[in-house]
Amino acid sequence: MRKNALLAFAIALSAVRVSGQSTATDAFHNNLMPEPSSLTANTGSLSITNGLTVSATGASSPLLDHAIVRMISRLEDRTGLQLSKQIQTAPTATLVIDVRSAGPAVQSFEEDESYSLTSTANSIKIEAATPVGALHAMETLLQLVQASGSSYVIPSVTIQDSPRFRWRGLMIDCGRHFEPIEVLKRNIDAMAAVKLNVFHWHLTEDQGFRIESKRFPKLTEKGSDGLFYTQEQARDLVAYARERGIRVVPEFEMPGHSVAWLVAYPELNSGSQPTGIRREFGVSDYVLDPTHPETYKFIDSFLTEMTTIFPDEYIHIGGDEAPAPDWKKNPRILAFMKAHDLHDNDALQAYFNTQVLGILTKLHRRMAGWDEIFNPALPKDVVIQSWRGVASLAKGAQQGYEGILSAPYYIDGMQPAGKLYLADPVPADTTLTPEQQKLILGGEVPMWAEHLDQRTIDSRIWPRTAAIAERFWSPQNVRDVDDMYRRLDVVSVELETLGLRHLTSEDAELRALAGSENIAAMRDFASAFEPVSFGERSSTQHTTQLTPLTSFVDAVRPDPPIRHQIEVAAKTFLTAPTAQDPATNDAHQLLLHFFETVGASVPRVQLVMDRQPRFQPIHTRAEQLTELSVIGIDALKYLNTSTTPPAQWKEHSLAQIEAAKKPSGLVNFTFLPALTQLVNATR
Ligand code: ACM
Repeated sequence: MRKNALLAFAIALSAVRVSGQSTATDAFHNNLMPEPSSLTANTGSLSITNGLTVSATGASSPLLDHAIVRMISRLEDRTGLQLSKQIQTAPTATLVIDVRSAGPAVQSFEEDESYSLTSTANSIKIEAATPVGALHAMETLLQLVQASGSSYVIPSVTIQDSPRFRWRGLMIDCGRHFEPIEVLKRNIDAMAAVKLNVFHWHLTEDQGFRIESKRFPKLTEKGSDGLFYTQEQARDLVAYARERGIRVVPEFEMPGHSVAWLVAYPELNSGSQPTGIRREFGVSDYVLDPTHPETYKFIDSFLTEMTTIFPDEYIHIGGDEAPAPDWKKNPRILAFMKAHDLHDNDALQAYFNTQVLGILTKLHRRMAGWDEIFNPALPKDVVIQSWRGVASLAKGAQQGYEGILSAPYYIDGMQPAGKLYLADPVPADTTLTPEQQKLILGGEVPMWAEHLDQRTIDSRIWPRTAAIAERFWSPQNVRDVDDMYRRLDVVSVELETLGLRHLTSEDAELRALAGSENIAAMRDFASAFEPVSFGERSSTQHTTQLTPLTSFVDAVRPDPPIRHQIEVAAKTFLTAPTAQDPATNDAHQLLLHFFETVGASVPRVQLVMDRQPRFQPIHTRAEQLTELSVIGIDALKYLNTSTTPPAQWKEHSLAQIEAAKKPSGLVNFTFLPALTQLVNATR
């Protein structure tokens, strides 16, 4: 059996379609993601040869020079040509990069990130206000490279580009599960490739305190299991991100999600003391004591130290999910609330935030926090990160607060890229005034880490986050989901060349599960599944921070490309199921091949299952896959031959599909909507 027959088949079909459409291969073929705000494709192209030269003619910038060398190195990989890495200053080079100024030392969301890129048959010119714009331009340039006959070319284009939103972030929760620095670095490389510009580093949680404090060493001694970033590593990461045009906004959760602080320094608690690092997930009752002057001295000293590591204008204080039962029963806290005219926990938390804001202001830093910090007691220069949704974000903007949207981008929900892609921080039908809309700085993709470790993280983030990055960068009307998926497949492979493991990790985990290198059947089988959401997993499996993440659910990836291919194929096939034209025929073949291949994989996968106890929870799914693949094959046959199925077939099939929607094995089938459509379309 061919290795990964299914994927090879799908790729072959799409290759046929592409070459059928386009014969002049040096004509611009748009694989850009994110789409630029303005692009004109001209005729002609520039052939890349080993004589290619690059010059930087504007303001001198070591950051830019480093980026140029990295870009040339990636261009070498793409073309197989050895190129000169000597950066010239002559305006006659093949590629001329001109930045007007070296830009500010500390990047802010006010940085001018715009650029222009003009390529002709003879030369390429990039112009930008600062090196950050030039970095974006070079990512675009690399995405423009395409094959033409026996060489690689840059098609002639004129691009004027600037981001729709100024704050385009990815948050990684390193508290619940620690991620080694090299994992973060490769994710920062991926962020840069799709023009994200904020790495929000969630550094403290109930489950772990991940940043070294020299003033308060017990924070990591007692609160981290030895898994933390030294100050030197953190500074290095900040510099690494800065070189790639990415700000690092650190988050130190307070007053809730603070078990790890309290384990180290019990004197900060509100009355109840945790016995150790929290292993369970969900919201905890332990909180810092907002009434105690020592708490603020501690926070002041800690944040002062952190500003020597994190130069960004913003510090994120978390602020979410602090139910704080102690505040309702500790007599000392109740007396404080009465004396300060604070009527409830929200008022006390706003008091706390106001004190912390005073500290941040003194440190020349601004405050960011989750929805819960939104309170009229706070001045308007705090940024509210909305995990509660567009309406909550809009409410903040209506009252004059800047905000960033996160709720629809919770990628732990395992929603497909197409759905995440369409969620907009400022939807077309927004009721916000133009002035209020300006307060929406952008959005952030949060990657929470309950069921995540260094092996699985990349496939949970990528490539779906590239689609969301386009939403944050590109014009509002760029919303063609099918075209997004086409370009996403290209970007996904590009990201792998940067060292991302989102594609290889599935194979590696399947090999580990099989205990064998021979995973052809496992791969076909896996293509029928995707992981359940973190929420569903938490509610059906008792997991803690210590649970090994080596089950089938950890191997399979959300929204594998075949899911959308099946959806499109079913739609195409159903337009004319009995027709023999190439498009419906292709679609029919793809669907038939899919159902045959996944069905055929089951007996061989069951042999693996018999040998591997940790794979056995999937046995119900395997049986269901056999039934469903037969339903798929039968439905195609009835539709294609215009045959009426036997009595009860349709009801019986729909009932089986319904049963397959029920939870089992922590994985869901990828193809049930398409299969339902096929069955329903039979007579
Ligand atoms: C959050 O999801 N509690 C920020």
